[in-house]
Amino acid sequence: MATAVLTGRLLLVAVLLLVLAGAAAAVPQGPDDSPAAMGRDGLAATPPMGWNSWNAFGCDIDEAKIRGVADALVASGMRDAGYRYLVVDDCWFDPRRGPDGQLRAAPDRFPGGIPALVRYVHERGLRFGIYLSPATRTCAQYAGDYPGATGSRGHEVQDAGTIAAWGADYLKYDWCSPSGDLGDLVAGFRLMRDALRATGRPIVYSINANSHQDANPGETHDWSGLANLSRTTQDITAAWHTGLRGAGCLGISDIIEVNAALAARAGPGHWNDPDMLEIGVPGTEGLPGLTPAEARTHLGMWAMMAAPLIAGNDVRSMDAATRDLLTNRDVIAVDQDRLGRQGRRIRGTDVQVWVRPLVEGVAVAVYNRGDATADMAATTAEVGLPPARGYLVRDAWSGRQWTSTGALTAAVGAHDTALLVVRPLP
Ligand code: GAL
Repeated sequence: MATAVLTGRLLLVAVLLLVLAGAAAAVPQGPDDSPAAMGRDGLAATPPMGWNSWNAFGCDIDEAKIRGVADALVASGMRDAGYRYLVVDDCWFDPRRGPDGQLRAAPDRFPGGIPALVRYVHERGLRFGIYLSPATRTCAQYAGDYPGATGSRGHEVQDAGTIAAWGADYLKYDWCSPSGDLGDLVAGFRLMRDALRATGRPIVYSINANSHQDANPGETHDWSGLANLSRTTQDITAAWHTGLRGAGCLGISDIIEVNAALAARAGPGHWNDPDMLEIGVPGTEGLPGLTPAEARTHLGMWAMMAAPLIAGNDVRSMDAATRDLLTNRDVIAVDQDRLGRQGRRIRGTDVQVWVRPLVEGVAVAVYNRGDATADMAATTAEVGLPPARGYLVRDAWSGRQWTSTGALTAAVGAHDTALLVVRPLP
């Protein structure tokens, strides 16, 4: 009798569970905005590397320049060092959409059309990227520097289909409007993320939520489930320090301070984007540009922060020092380490010690933000390495190697960064 009652109860529970499971299945699932979903397709498994037209050329772009850049990326060794995505930024489009609403290339700037340009780029072993805005105007249109209002609002599916059919491999999607609250931004960026996925073409998705948004939503909100890379600050400029944050361009040292706090968001498929490189870009508006030490800090700290490395200089005419810095294989290897962890500051204000765990060992940076040369001493235990009979230390700038029993020391000039890769000896 007791057994019969128990069996009856068990049956009832089983039926109830089935009903509940059915009800759960019937509830429509919300969008999957998890960072894990962003990384699932393997896109941007390491931070994307490439070149973008904005920092060198601004709005002044055309087909001949972009082809010249493609050739120079190959001839200079940049492509083979990893700079694969050639991204055409703002001002490439016809200010008017076609009669069917389709985006078209500006006929005077790109007379051969985008598909032919994409073929040219692909034939050189590069990938092609392009720029759009989720609002009604791109940033140059909003600023009045370029005519028209060809933003993608209301055209998301059509525009994703267009660039996919053209063979694009990367989209930079830039908010460019003071209007819209956080909910609008999330919805707008999600629409394009899903429209790109629906094309079936692997297209790296790079977003900027900050442009014309004074509250810096790119910094204050976590976008890691919505895009492969998301801009954390306002625009970069070729300067060490501007002191500006929400209302103007930032220097290298300003950006590092903002990006340092956001390390937890970064991982394979979703990276913090502290903006494109200014190495080899002359200063503008009375700013002096970067010294060699500052340029080293720029690349070295971007690598420590697992940042996308998108060169912004005119690679057609760069000097040997710029090329050698940009193609430093030890530093690029740190940036591209497949563990995909953004480095963290472990101590310091003017002289900072940063650690980035690698698949094998760690990268240690001593970043000298101050104005005087500094000596730094750290230990392998402090940077998280396990006890070992010794450690192999490699200076990423010079390639010099030595062994240590645990002490790590460096002398670092003002605004410079020492970058050491440290591995336990087997
Ligand atoms: C800015 C963006 C720059 C560049 C520019 C184009 O908002 O941050 O990187 O894309 O728009 O107008």
